[in-house]
Amino acid sequence: MSKPFFVTALFFALLALLMAVDAALNALGLLPTFVGLRWLRVHFITLGVMAEALFGVLVAWAAARAGKTAERPGRTLLVWVLFNLGLAGLMVGIPSVNPPMILFGGTLIMVDVGILTWLVLRSRGGVAASPALGFHIAGLLFLFIGALLGTGMWLGWSAPLGVHNALEAHIHANNWGFMGLVFAGLLVEFYPAITGKDVAWPRLRPLLLAALSLGALLLVLGPWLGNNDLVMPGIALYLLSTLVFLASLVKPILGERAAWSPGMWHLLSAYVWILLPVVSAPLLLLGVLQVPLADVEASAPQALIYGWVFQVGYALIPWAIQRARHPEKSATLGGCWGGLVAVTLGGVCLWLSIFNPGLAGPLRGAAYGLWGLSMLPFIRDTARALDVC
Ligand code: HEM
Repeated sequence: MSKPFFVTALFFALLALLMAVDAALNALGLLPTFVGLRWLRVHFITLGVMAEALFGVLVAWAAARAGKTAERPGRTLLVWVLFNLGLAGLMVGIPSVNPPMILFGGTLIMVDVGILTWLVLRSRGGVAASPALGFHIAGLLFLFIGALLGTGMWLGWSAPLGVHNALEAHIHANNWGFMGLVFAGLLVEFYPAITGKDVAWPRLRPLLLAALSLGALLLVLGPWLGNNDLVMPGIALYLLSTLVFLASLVKPILGERAAWSPGMWHLLSAYVWILLPVVSAPLLLLGVLQVPLADVEASAPQALIYGWVFQVGYALIPWAIQRARHPEKSATLGGCWGGLVAVTLGGVCLWLSIFNPGLAGPLRGAAYGLWGLSMLPFIRDTARALDVC
C-alpha cells in the first residue's frame, strides 16, 4: 500500500514546522538568515508534504480504479523511490546551486511524473468511469511543465525554451495547474464520500475542467512568452471557474450544520488565499493600493503555499490516508478549530505585513509562528491516521 508516501509526507511536515519556526525567529531578528532556506521552506511543503502525499493518493486511486484490490508493491515502490531520490537531489542541489545535482533531481522527478501519469491513464477503463480522471491527468501535465521550468531555472534552459519569466511561469504551473487541478479532481471524486451528497451541477464538470485547464495554461503562457495580454483572460477564466466550483461544493451542504466541520472550513476557506491576490492584482496595477509590486510578489507565494496549498492538505491528507488504509470504514477530514484560527490569522498577518512596511518584521514573525502552530494538529491527525501514535 501507499504508506511509504504518507510516512515521508509526515516527516516533511515536521521539517516544514521547523522551517516555519526558523522563519518566525528570523523575521523577528532573533536568528540570522541562512542562504537557501527560502527554497527549502516552500518546497518541504509543496514537494515534501503535498506532492509526496498526492502521489501516494494517486497511486492508490489508480490501482483502485483499475479494479485491483491493492497496488502492485513494485510499482508503488518505484514511484516512491524515484520521487524521493529526485527530491533529495534538489534539496542538495538548489540551495547550493549545484547544476549536476539539480539536473539529476529534476530529471528523476519528471520521469516519475511520467510514470504516474501512465498509471493514472491506464486506470481509465477500470471499475467505473471517474469524473476525476481528466483533472488528475491535466494536473500531472502541469506538474511536468512546472518541474521542467524549475529545473531549468539554474541550468540556463530559459533562453532556448523562450521563457521570459521562469519563476512566475513555474509558480503558476505548479499552483494553478498542478495543485488546483488535482485538488479539484480529488474533491469531485471524494465529495460524495465526505458529505454523503454529490456536488451541485455535476454536468458542469467537463466545462469546469476545460475552463480551469485553459485558465491555468494562459497563466503559464503569459509569463513564459512575456505576454501580459494572456494573463488577464487567464485570471478571469481561472477565477470564474474556481468560484463556480466552490459554489458547487457549498450549495449541497448549505444549512447542514453537521457538514461544517473544521475540516470542511479548512477546505473551503483555503480558497480565500488564492482569491485575495487575484482580486488585489488589478487594484495594485491601477494604483488603488499603494504598495510596491515587488513586495507583493515576494510575499504572496508564501501566503498561497501556507494558506491555500497546505490548508487543503490539512483536511484532505488525513482523510485520504484513513480511506486508503481502511476503505470499509468512514473517514473524517483532518483539522480542528484551533488550527483553523491559527492558519487564518497567519495569512492575515502576512498580508498586513505587506501593507505595513514599518511593522513588517513582527507581523511576518507572527505569521510564521501562527502557521507553525497550525501544523501541529495536521501532524497529529496524519500520525493518528497512520497509526504511528
Ligand atoms: C521538480 C520540481 C521543482 C523544482 C526543480 C523547483 C524549483 C524551484 C526554483 C529553482 C525556484 C526559485 C527559487 C528562487 O528564486 O530562489 C522555485 C520557487 C518556487 N517554487 Fe518550485 N520547484 C519545484 C516544484 C514546485 C512545486 C510542486 C510547487 C508547488 C506549488 C512549487 C512552488 C514554488 C514556489 C511558490 C516558489 C516561489 C518561492 C518564493 O517566492 O519564496 N515548486 N522552485
